Amino acid sequence: MKTDTCDANAPIDQLKAISSWVSSVQDLDKLLQLIIESATGVVRAEAASLLLLDPTTNTLYFKVTTGAKGDEVKEFRIKIGQGIAGHVAETGQPLLIADAQQDNRWMREISDSIEYATRSMACVPLKINGTTIGVVQVINKKDNTQFTHADMAVLEEFSSLAALAIGSARSLEQVRQENQDLKKELGEKHQIIGKSVILNKVLEDAQKLSRTKTTALIQGESGTGKELLARLIHRESPRKEKPLVVLNCAALPEPLLESELFGHEKGAFTGAAGRKLGKFETAHEGTLFLDEIGEMAQGIQAKLLRVLQEGVFYRVGGNTPITVDVRVLSATNKNLKKEVEEGKFREDLFYRLNVVQLNIPPLRERLEDVASLVDHFLAVFKKETGLSGLTISEAAMDKMSRYNWPGNIRELRNAIERAVVMGNGKTIMPEDLPITASLPKFAGLKVGLTLDEALNEFKKEFILLNLRHTGGNRSKAAKVMDIQRTYLSRLITRYDIRDLA
Ligand SMILES: Nc1ncnc2c1ncn2[C@@H]1O[C@H](COP(=O)(O)OP(=O)(O)OP(=O)(O)O)[C@@H](O)[C@H]1O
Ligand SMILES: [Mg+2]
Repeated sequence: MKTDTCDANAPIDQLKAISSWVSSVQDLDKLLQLIIESATGVVRAEAASLLLLDPTTNTLYFKVTTGAKGDEVKEFRIKIGQGIAGHVAETGQPLLIADAQQDNRWMREISDSIEYATRSMACVPLKINGTTIGVVQVINKKDNTQFTHADMAVLEEFSSLAALAIGSARSLEQVRQENQDLKKELGEKHQIIGKSVILNKVLEDAQKLSRTKTTALIQGESGTGKELLARLIHRESPRKEKPLVVLNCAALPEPLLESELFGHEKGAFTGAAGRKLGKFETAHEGTLFLDEIGEMAQGIQAKLLRVLQEGVFYRVGGNTPITVDVRVLSATNKNLKKEVEEGKFREDLFYRLNVVQLNIPPLRERLEDVASLVDHFLAVFKKETGLSGLTISEAAMDKMSRYNWPGNIRELRNAIERAVVMGNGKTIMPEDLPITASLPKFAGLKVGLTLDEALNEFKKEFILLNLRHTGGNRSKAAKVMDIQRTYLSRLITRYDIRDLA
């Protein structure tokens, strides 16, 4: 009697256990297995299976099976309309078969081929929002009796649980997919274009850096891609799933910048209506990118230094110490070392930020990147404007390859955009470009120098150009200039060439 009571409650208990799982479905296969195993036990079947509809081929395949021949049956595919399962999938109506051998809808091939004697069957559809996506079937009642309508009702409950689980997993997958697509799109938007040796050296350093938590300072003229590089470092780092928080230190006056960085408590100052989290907190476990760090007021510099040293800070108006795990990247278009020497930037903070320094060379020092950048931006704007046949004339390309690009890649991007919009829609001509080609200025081309002095100035500049081009590699630079490496070293000493930046 006691056992009977237990049995009667068992299905409900199992259902409850499974329902609590369904909404948090992470491992769908395991969950479906659990559902089908429970169904087999509850209706006391010899075997059970869950079949799903493959809409591309209109066939059912075995997703989950239980019973002695469970694995063998997985080889088969069933056409919609064929056999009991195919019939239920087609009509969306459940079927209770007392003796399969007597039912002409039954497909004996599978049973025969796996040598399984099918007697009775119960099969119910698996539906999401009214659409049949598969079936659940049980085969042969253990005690040789037949499945009842009560068994069917239980089976239908299990089937809706399975449908719920599949539905949740599919929406989860959809969200994941959308997320991935979005990231891919952003990744493409933030692609760093260019094949020059000096740019590649910077990219290699950035890759190495991305694996660590090291603080780094990115220097480069305006429009060279400092923010892009910071995004790359974050994207390639183990922190990529966490936020990259960008704060422009030049955009805000001192008190506002402080509360942006560290947050504030309610009532900390007039207008502080509620608690606000600062960028340091929102960047927890991610990356904080402090742009235009050279513009940061001295008062905040001291506070930032303290956070970097002690790893702890307080919200404005608060007294609870807050600890966060943040990787700090900063960028400036100033020469921060010089700012330190001039007393405009704290030396101790400079060393904290400048553990590793990345210098992005201006575009005029890597004019070989112009062509690929032009192609890249042209493709972007062609897509945006729908002018798919647009090309660029050789003369226009030539003009761009001889320009010195004071505004760097941003200027190049804008120039292409203007040419696409204002041009004839077919070929970009030199006159469509808002730039005046300027031949490079030669060092030493000044009145007042002797020929020797002028030559020396030119040689120094020429050596520097080649060293920059090879990322400081003397052997390569010597080879390009067709001189001995030892001779190059002597020239470097003679002309006192130290700083490649
Ligand atoms: N190598 C590159 N490949 C493709 N796009 C680039 C590259 N470098 C820069 N850009 C693009 O040029 C523009 C300027 O880049 P970014 O904002 O990163 O420069 P920045 O150095 O931060 O400039 P600023 O000092 O003015 O803030 C952006 O549109 C960026 O996508
Ligand atoms: Mg920037």
